[in-house]
Amino acid sequence: MSSSEKEMAIGQKFELLYPQEKLSARIQELGRQISDDYADKNPLLVGVLKGCVVFMADLIRNITIPIEMDFISASRYTNGQIPEKTVSLETLQGCALQGRHILIVEGVVDSGVTIEAIINDLKKQEPATIEIVTLLDKPGCRRVGVAAKYKGFDAGDNFVIGYGLDMDQKYRNLPFIGRVINE
Ligand code: IMP
Ligand code: MG
Repeated sequence: MSSSEKEMAIGQKFELLYPQEKLSARIQELGRQISDDYADKNPLLVGVLKGCVVFMADLIRNITIPIEMDFISASRYTNGQIPEKTVSLETLQGCALQGRHILIVEGVVDSGVTIEAIINDLKKQEPATIEIVTLLDKPGCRRVGVAAKYKGFDAGDNFVIGYGLDMDQKYRNLPFIGRVINE
């Protein structure tokens, strides 16, 4: 399908930023790096719903060491591209975090407000370490001081969709990352 045919199919103008092959290759590298860095650490991967799901499914299948996983629900963007001021969090499904090596798995880190709220929440349970792995990063958009140890690609200051990332809850199922073109 050409890019303009895809646009017609999804009803939103976008520019293809990262095709599936590029994402797969990079996620493979991230999996290898995490497997090296966390050998013997039995890390707990905490996915941030819902944006993490496609990335996390790929990532865990490229990690070759024992891991455990859990999920946390966070929402900030409730109205298309307009951010809400507060972050609402739902707690983990039940994994104890004390002394654990935590890897927070995100689809995209933008201002950093969401991930900072998550880190502060998880820290209460005294894990040994907390690091961030994100498919996409927008370091130029930060409003708080959080940095991702592992990142797939930079997304500039674009609003991106696909591979788990939504606009108004849509487009998460696109098998690539596209930059939304606002008309
Ligand atoms: P932050 O709190 O500004 O870092 O925003 C992080 C959250 O906002 C992510 O978990 C996403 O749900 C959402 N978000 C930020 N930028 C984008 C984007 O470009 N596309 C889709 N969702 C985004
Ligand atoms: Mg969203």
